[in-house]
This record gives sequence, structure tokens and C-alpha cells, in this order.
Amino acid sequence: MKRDRSRAILKANCRYIPGGVVSVNRAAKPEIVFVRGRGAYLWDADGNRYIDYHAAFAPHFLGHNDPYVSEAVARVLAREESLYGSGTTEAEGRLAELICRAAPSVESVQLLNSGSEATYQAIRLARAITGREHIIVIQGGYNGWHNEVSCNVMTPIETLGPRVSPGEYPYAGMSAGVPESHKKLVHVVNFNDLDSVEFVCRRQPVAALITEPVLQNIGILKPKAGYLAGLRQMADQHGFLLIFDEVKTGFRHAPGGYAAICGVNPDLTVYGKAVANGYPLAVLGGRREWMEYFVHPDPSRRVLLAGTYNAHPVPTAAAIATIERLTENGGEVYRHVESLGQRIEEGIHGILRAAGLTGLVARQGSAFCIYFMDHEPVDWHDIAANHPFALDEALRREMIERGIYAFPLATKQWSISAAHTAADVDATLEAFEEALAAAGAAAARA
Ligand SMILES: Cc1ncc(COP(=O)(O)O)c(C=O)c1O
Repeated sequence: MKRDRSRAILKANCRYIPGGVVSVNRAAKPEIVFVRGRGAYLWDADGNRYIDYHAAFAPHFLGHNDPYVSEAVARVLAREESLYGSGTTEAEGRLAELICRAAPSVESVQLLNSGSEATYQAIRLARAITGREHIIVIQGGYNGWHNEVSCNVMTPIETLGPRVSPGEYPYAGMSAGVPESHKKLVHVVNFNDLDSVEFVCRRQPVAALITEPVLQNIGILKPKAGYLAGLRQMADQHGFLLIFDEVKTGFRHAPGGYAAICGVNPDLTVYGKAVANGYPLAVLGGRREWMEYFVHPDPSRRVLLAGTYNAHPVPTAAAIATIERLTENGGEVYRHVESLGQRIEEGIHGILRAAGLTGLVARQGSAFCIYFMDHEPVDWHDIAANHPFALDEALRREMIERGIYAFPLATKQWSISAAHTAADVDATLEAFEEALAAAGAAAARA
């Protein structure tokens, strides 16, 4: 594929942006500059078209520039609605009500701009409520960029050491500049491992455990039966708050998030991404009694929450329109993406079998990942030990050359949107068959 224009733009941007790309996790090879997105498709600066499964790290659940959402945004601008920064608005009240009605454990919400802000506030709120400082996070989970949580996602096993249970892993660190005093308060345990949570709780007074209910930053890693209910029980027993980070799972899997699917009620929940279909909005919600700490009558117990852009009318309108679309026709969108998910899963399994290769699709509704393993992974150690990363990345690059865009980093989630069609899936499967053969050869050469 021709990429001259993309390369020229990146080169020019390097003059004023370190590395040439903002949000450094977006830097990817091949270096492609996208200029347009509609529905399931992206176009780059050189005019190449791609079927998109990256969805900008997952928010575009309805597809790019969904017309219903775009119209809602256009109406806000046409009516000259603005950001007022004083008092409330009808729109923020309407959005809050829609979210509380959708999510069984959410009685009250605050609106923020990004998932990281919302997880930051969730942890601070839990500390204020419990009067404790230690938190538990999950190996292989991603909860944002701030000090407490930017610790362990795809940490190499050489750094982590072997799987331990019960026990905790060192704070491996994804960023320089995190104070040692912060690291001491963070305890990283394995997903699907209740014994390690117990291990930490016996040694430290824990304020909160934060977890994605399905780990979706290392592909698709599902909770074992009883694991999330076990976390709920331990939270009640040890007095910590259970925080579900549903930034990826919320609204993509059900309007009430994964909590509505698994039937476990966390104390606090964070949403982002799919809630506004690509516009910058995040939500922190939970039991009313906890959320009231933001307006606690005792100033020494009150938690500060402030943000110039919180509930900006554009993303707020986008979120309202998104939730309306997700809930119309009895949740037709979810049935559509599930049928496409099944189609791609069956197709990939058939191609892998025909090629005599070990591998499978791990899938939760519209989100999936291909692992070249003989079983669905149970935790990060399982993936790190058994999944061939070089083959995964070679496959993604070969797919991109055939007009199918999944982010070219091993184990990153593939996201189907409501705008994808059966024909898109069939074109993807055709490309997959060719790409697999080409990637196998490339990985073998490497
Ligand atoms: C599960 C999860 N939590 C939190 C975040 C942080 O969200 P944001 O990038 O909007 O700050 C992400 C981002 O990928 C995420 O996947």
C-alpha cells in the first residue's frame, strides 16, 4: 500500500511533537495517518480504505460518526449551547438518569472527561470513605495513566517472575516519575485469584480493589465462575470498596455494563469509551451513600471533584444519543454484534483448523482476540508463556496490508461495531486466511 503522504505528515509532526504522535501509545508500525472515519471504515492520507477493528481503542461501538449521534452534536452547536461552568444543565441530568436506569448498582453519578480521571476519582473516593490508603489492582489490567494504576499491564515475565499465589507482584511500573510512597500503597495480584486478595487483606488495611470485570487490555480474559462474586464477598468481609472499571466493558456489552451480565454489584463503577461513542466523556457512579461524599457536610470528609470541561454539552449530547441508540428496538444493536461475533469466531476457527494451527478466538460479544494457544487464557502469565507475540504482530501487519485494521500490537482487543456487516466479516475472513499464511512465514523467518 502507498503510504508516502502518511510518512510526510508524521515527519513534519516530529518537529513539534515528541515522537510526532500525541498520546504515545498510539505510535504504531506501519505508520499510518488516518484522515476520515465512517461506520466500520477508515481512510488514510494516501486514500487507502480499511475495515476498522481498532475503533480508536474501543469507543466507537456504533461505528465512526454514527449519523444519529452526529445529528445530536450538530443540534447542540446550532442551538448555540455552550459550556457555562456555573450550575447544572438539563442535559447532564438527563444523561445521569439514563445511566442510573441502565446500571443496577448505580444510583448516582458524576461526569468526567476521561477514564483515567474517573478511576483516579474512584480511588480517592474509596480512600475517603474507608479512611484507608492501600489499594489492590490486577496484573494485566489497565485502569489509566495516574500514579496508582500505571503499574502492570503487559509486564514481561522476566521482570515479574513466575506466577505466585497467594501473593502479590512487584509494582513493575509503566512510567517514570511515580513516587515510591505511592508504589508502596499499591498491591498487584493475579486475575482470577481470590487467595491473593485475601493474602493482601490480611496484611494491609485495603481501601479498594479496582478491576476490569473482563480484562480487555490484554485481549479478552474472562472471569472464572464465582470469581467476581468472590470479590464482592471479600469486599464485604474486609471492608474495602469493590470498583469495577467498565471503561471498556460498559455499554459495549450491555447498557448496564458487565455488572448487569454477571449479576455482581460493585460499590463504584467507572464508564468511558463506548458511553459516548468516541466523544470524550467518562462516568463515575455507584451507591448514593458513597457518591454523597462529593457533597459531604463535613469539609474534612468531602472529596474534591472539579473539572472545567466536565459534562461539556457536545460529549453530553453524544452520550445521550448513544444510549438512546443502544437501547432502541429492545437492544437490537447487541443482537447484531453478537451474530457478527459468532460469524467471525466460527470463521477463524475453521481457517485455523484447515491450516492445522493451534489457536482460538476468545470473545465477549463484540470484543475478541485471537490467541495461538490451545485454551482460553486464564491470566497474564498464561498469555506471556504460551501466546506467540511475534506471530500475532506479523498477522496484524499482514491484515493491515490487506485493508483490515487492528492495532498492530500483540493481544490488543479487536472491536466489532454496530456498523459492521456480514459482508465486512466475510471480507475480513478472506484476508485472514491469506494473512495467516504470510504471517506464519514471516514469524518463522524472524
Ligand atoms: C479499562 C480501562 N480503564 C481506564 C482507561 C483509561 O481511560 P482514558 O484513556 O479515557 O483515560 C482505559 C483506556 O484504555 C481502559 O481500557
